[in-house]
Amino acid sequence: MYHDFADLYDRIYSDKDYEAESAQLAEIVTAHNPDATTLLDVACGTGGHLVHLQDRFECQGIDLSAEMIEVARAKLPDTTLHVGDMTEFDLGTRFDAVICMFSAVGHLKTVDRLDAAIARMAVHLAPRGILAVQPWIDPADWLVGNVHMDTYEDDEMKIARVSVAEPVDRGRVVMELLVGTKAGVTRLRDEHEMGWFTRAEYEAAFEKAGLAVRFEDMAPTTRGVYIGTAE
Ligand SMILES: C[S@@+](CC[C@H](N)C(=O)[O-])C[C@H]1O[C@@H](n2cnc3c(N)ncnc32)[C@H](O)[C@@H]1O
Repeated sequence: MYHDFADLYDRIYSDKDYEAESAQLAEIVTAHNPDATTLLDVACGTGGHLVHLQDRFECQGIDLSAEMIEVARAKLPDTTLHVGDMTEFDLGTRFDAVICMFSAVGHLKTVDRLDAAIARMAVHLAPRGILAVQPWIDPADWLVGNVHMDTYEDDEMKIARVSVAEPVDRGRVVMELLVGTKAGVTRLRDEHEMGWFTRAEYEAAFEKAGLAVRFEDMAPTTRGVYIGTAE
């Protein structure tokens, strides 16, 4: 998962407005605690948000994929980045803000693992800390057989990525990519066993971690975030 695609990831999501999302996140954090100075990005991927948040906060990031972290490190040479699993990490330090964006929690698949990850994030919150977690798709919007395509092109590379939503457990996404360069066309396949969760399941995970929870819209950029704050 992701390992083979880390160097393609930023191209596939080149239209995603990380800058605007990061500005919205910074606003949410600052509205909660104007003195917030530290931020942890959990499942930070290639560092799309950290690149924009590093000017405002002292940032760290963590991701399961060493390959994604390697891409992030090239963009963020001065930022501490860790390879680790969000369900069991312990960085031994606390942050004013912890974020987990772009549906990364969907990879957790089960409610038990969602609970474990939210609990680990909560443990890393400083007093007056704030947790922002962007959910994966709402089960009501999960359309079995839905076919989606992303494309990218520049002078050196063309990519077509087609995905199909399958009716396995809480959702499986099968993706195939065609990547064309002057060396030829490569075909890659990736299967993401995912987990959609209900609003009640997200809220319960925050509450079990001792956090008050609310949902905050982030239109027009993303599908919003669950916000957790210490009581
Ligand atoms: C869709 S990407 C989102 C990356 C980044 N947050 C962004 O906005 O571009 C999902 C990320 O979750 C990471 N991930 C999946 N399972 C994880 C886990 N158990 N612990 C930490 N990271 C995980 C993947 O390696 C991948 O980088």
